[in-house]
Order: sequence, then C-alpha cells, then structure tokens
Amino acid sequence: MKTTGGTDDQKRRAAERAADLVSSGETVGLGTGSTAAFAVRALGRAVEAGELEDVFGVATSFASRELAREAGVPLCSLDEVECIDVAIDGSDQVDADGNLIKGGGAAHAREKVVDAAAHRFVVVADPSKLAETLDRPVPLEVLPAARTLVSARVDELGGDPVLRTADRKDGPVVTDNGNFVLDCDFGAIDDPASLSADLSATPGVVEHGLFVGLADEAYVGTDDGVDART
Ligand code: 5RP
Repeated sequence: MKTTGGTDDQKRRAAERAADLVSSGETVGLGTGSTAAFAVRALGRAVEAGELEDVFGVATSFASRELAREAGVPLCSLDEVECIDVAIDGSDQVDADGNLIKGGGAAHAREKVVDAAAHRFVVVADPSKLAETLDRPVPLEVLPAARTLVSARVDELGGDPVLRTADRKDGPVVTDNGNFVLDCDFGAIDDPASLSADLSATPGVVEHGLFVGLADEAYVGTDDGVDART
C-alpha cells in the first residue's frame, strides 16, 4: 500500500484515536490507504476483544474490503446502508480550512460517497499532509473514452493532466470502477470550491479528489500524541 512522508507511528496514533470514536451498533466508513488501514486494524482488534458489537464497516475500495475481512471487521455493502455514523479516512493533503486532496490510492470516487454520507467524517493524517493552501495534483477519475476531452478541459482550467500509470507497467492504472485517473497539477489552489465546481461540471469526470467542506475533524498524529483539529 502507498506510503508517504509521515511515520507509521504518527499514522497509527491518529488512526487509533479515530477508531476509539466508534461505538457498538454503528456503521463505519472504512477509508483507503496506509493511515486508514491502522484504523481498520484497530476496529478489528476491538471487535475480536468484544469491546465493539454489531459494528459494520462500509469499505471504500477493494483494498479496504480485503483488509477489513482480514482484520475481522464485519462488512455491509454501500448500497445496503441508509446512513453511516462515522467515516475514518486518510488524505493526501489537508489545508488550513480542512479541505482535502484525496485519491492517491485511486479510490476517491467511492471515498467521497462514503465520507460525504457520514454523520461524522474524521480525517486521519500525519504532519507531512498539512499545508496552508492545497497544491498537490488533483486526481480525476475519468471514463477511459473521455480521457482526451477531459485533459483538454483541464488544460483550459489551468491544469496539467498526467495519466496515472502503474509502477513497472506500461498501462494506465484502472480504478475499482474500471476507469482511468488523471493527476492534474493546478499549482496552488486558491479557491478549492470554485475548482471543485468546474471539475464536477466536466462531462467524463466520474469524480475528482477535491473534498471541500466535507471533513468534520482532522486527527494529525505527531511523535508524541494526536493533534485534533475541527
Ligand atoms: C486513497 C486516498 C488515501 O486516503 C490517501 O492517498 C492517503 O493515503 P495514505 O494514508 O497511504 O498516505 O485518498 O484514494
């Protein structure tokens, strides 16, 4: 699974603190990535120890579903749930207002559905993810046949689109939904809400990785604790 600048201990502290928020009887959105994975494992341990009962996880990707199975977190599918109590998910970048760039694991389409539906969406991160202004490339999940037209629109919007390819393979990364990913560098994103609206309005874009105003809290794991931001 993809790892980034933070340490495993920082990620684990943030994720385990978030997992502590979950109570028996709740439905939990299970994010994708190396930080969210620590939360899934913590939930699995709590279920096994009998500390959590009647908890169901809603996976955001094939990878998080497999991990939940391995960790012993009971699952239900996204189309079976009417509400999600808590979602715990990682992020590639978090700005000073709590806006996010997600999709480093190409799972942002389902992550956005789950995270937006949650009564409480908690982002788990390490300090390397924090930025005053978002400036990482924004992943766009696109219909394969629309790739060229979407790239042209990204160009018009001032971005530089690059088709994501798998390591050591020539072909493009294919998402769980059968689509491609364009990583689009817009430089510093001064108005994430406006860019989000423009990208959402682009035909062929299945979903983009800007999560504007969705997160309720961010737990940032440090070397000696957790910094909780609301
Ligand atoms: C997957 C994501 C991940 O949450 C994001 O890439 C962060 O991953 P990690 O915790 O491994 O740094 O958005 O689509």
